[in-house]
Amino acid sequence: MDSTEVNKGMAAILVAGIAFFLSGWISVTLVHDSKPEHEILKIEGVGPVEASAGAAKEETLAPIAPLLAKADPASGESTAKKLCVSCHTFADGGKSGVGPNLYGTVGAARGHTAGFNYSAALKGKAGNWSFEELNAWLAKPAAFAPGTRMTFAGIKSIEQRADVIAYLRTLSKTPVPLP
Ligand code: HEC
Repeated sequence: MDSTEVNKGMAAILVAGIAFFLSGWISVTLVHDSKPEHEILKIEGVGPVEASAGAAKEETLAPIAPLLAKADPASGESTAKKLCVSCHTFADGGKSGVGPNLYGTVGAARGHTAGFNYSAALKGKAGNWSFEELNAWLAKPAAFAPGTRMTFAGIKSIEQRADVIAYLRTLSKTPVPLP
């Protein structure tokens, strides 16, 4: 064994040592950082919200009505084409996919698309879709109808929700008057 051979051996041991040390350090760092993040629903116009201890605590949403007059349906349409098209169609007579076709939703009864298999959670919420209910639904579907099959986290920004609702309102031959 000449000296290069020895040096190679030493180098291999050194590299193994460094790798061992690094992997330990990385796992410690990762484990340390994996604390679950607590999600806080931001409520516009009400100031900071305290982190609620119980998950079931009711969140009060600011009303959407004052924003609808200046909401932008075109911007709502482009948001919907990003966030909703994987599950929904919007055209009159469009096919339902993972979610129901959404033409004529505003003002219609919940579960308005014939032939779509709605969850009991949504069907249990009797009544017609008002602007404020759509606001609550789109902020957090699982809070509005716990157990719903719409596995969508929600739209955090109230302006974006107003735009999307303003767009949904246009999907009708006789759009519901703005509040
Ligand atoms: C991952 C798929 C998915 C995404 C993304 C999604 N939805 Fe849904 N949506 C559903 C499903 C499934 C239902 C039926 C829910 C049930 O029966 O519980 C539904 C129901 C609805 C309803 C009720 C319709 C009715 O007839 O009562 C509305 C309104 C709605 N979605 C709007 C939206 C909007 C707006 C977006 C985008 C911002 C969106 N959804 C994104 C799957 C989705």
